Amino acid sequence: MLNDKKIAILGAGNMGDALVSGLVGSKSCAPKNIICTDVRQSKLDEIKSTYKVRTTGNNLKAVTEADIVIYAVKPQILATVLIETAPKLDTSKLVISIAAGVPLAAMETCVKKDLRLIRVMPNIAAAVKEAATAIAAGAHATQEDIKLAMEIFNSIGKCIFLKENDLMDATTGLSGSGPAYIFLIVDALADAGVKVGLSRQDSLFLAAQTVLGAAKLLMETQEHPGQLKDKVTSPGGTAIAGLATLESGGLRTTLINAVEAATNRSKELGAMMVQNFCDANSHNSD
Ligand SMILES: NC(=O)c1ccc[n+]([C@@H]2O[C@H](COP(=O)([O-])OP(=O)(O)OC[C@H]3O[C@@H](n4cnc5c(N)ncnc54)[C@H](OP(=O)(O)O)[C@@H]3O)[C@@H](O)[C@H]2O)c1
Repeated sequence: MLNDKKIAILGAGNMGDALVSGLVGSKSCAPKNIICTDVRQSKLDEIKSTYKVRTTGNNLKAVTEADIVIYAVKPQILATVLIETAPKLDTSKLVISIAAGVPLAAMETCVKKDLRLIRVMPNIAAAVKEAATAIAAGAHATQEDIKLAMEIFNSIGKCIFLKENDLMDATTGLSGSGPAYIFLIVDALADAGVKVGLSRQDSLFLAAQTVLGAAKLLMETQEHPGQLKDKVTSPGGTAIAGLATLESGGLRTTLINAVEAATNRSKELGAMMVQNFCDANSHNSD
C-alpha cells in the first residue's frame, strides 16, 4: 500500500511538482510521508507551502529515510545524484527514475549494486494529471514494486507496463514527444479556422476542445478510431472531404515517420547517455 510508504522525490522541478500534486491531491500519500529535495531553496519553499510536504537540500538525508526514491532530476545530472546517494541505496528501497533516455542497465552500472529499480517515461500532461506513462522494471523489481509504481504514476494520469529494452524508446517517440505533435496540430487547425473566418481566440478554443473531446470519446467508448471516424463521415459530406485532403497530404505517413524519427533519436540520445554514465562512473572510481 502506497500510503504506508515514505517517498523521497529528488528534484522539485516540473515533474517533481506534478508528482507531489498528484500524490497529495489523490490522497495516495500523506504530505508528511513525502520529502522533496532540490538545489534551489526557492523551489523547496514553494513546494512546502503549497503541499505541506517536507523538504531538504540534502539528497542523502531524503534517501536515508525513504522506502521509495524517485529521481526527478535532468538526465545529464542523474549519474551524479545516483553516485551521491548510492551509499544509502539497497534492496530495502524501491528506486524509480523518470529521466528520459537513461536505460536501467546504465543506472545499475552506476550504483554498482543490485537494486529494485524501475524506469518510467511520463509526459508533460502530468501537470494536469493526464500524463500517458510507460513503466519498465529492472531484474530485481518485484510485482509489488510494479504495482506501487503504477499507483504513483496513475496519480498523474494513466500508465502502462512495458519491457524496457526495445520499447521505452518507442514510448519516448510516441507519448513522450507526442504532446508536441498535438500542439502543432492544434496550432495548424487554429490557423485553418482563422483562414475560414473565425477569430484566433475562437479558433484555438474550438481546435483544442475538439482534440480533448475526441480523445475522451476514444478512451470512454473504447471504440476503434476507424469506427468513430466512420460514424462522423456521411456520404458526400464535409468530414470525408476534409479527410480526403488529409490523406492526399500524407498526414498518416507523416505521423508514422515522425514517431519513428523521434524513436530513433531517443535511441541515439540513450547511447550518448550510457557513455556519460560510464564516464561519471570511471571518475567516481578514480
Ligand atoms: N518535463 C517533462 O515533460 C518530462 C517528460 C518525461 C520525462 N521527464 C524527465 O523528468 C526529469 C525531470 O524533468 P523536469 O522537466 O521536471 O526538469 P526540471 O524542471 O529541471 O526539474 C529538475 C529539478 O532538479 C533540480 N536539481 C538540479 N540538481 C539537483 C540535485 N543535485 N539534487 C536535487 N535536485 C536537483 C533542478 O534545479 P535547477 O533548475 O537549479 O537545475 C530542478 O529544479 C528529467 O529527467 C526528464 O527527462 C520530463
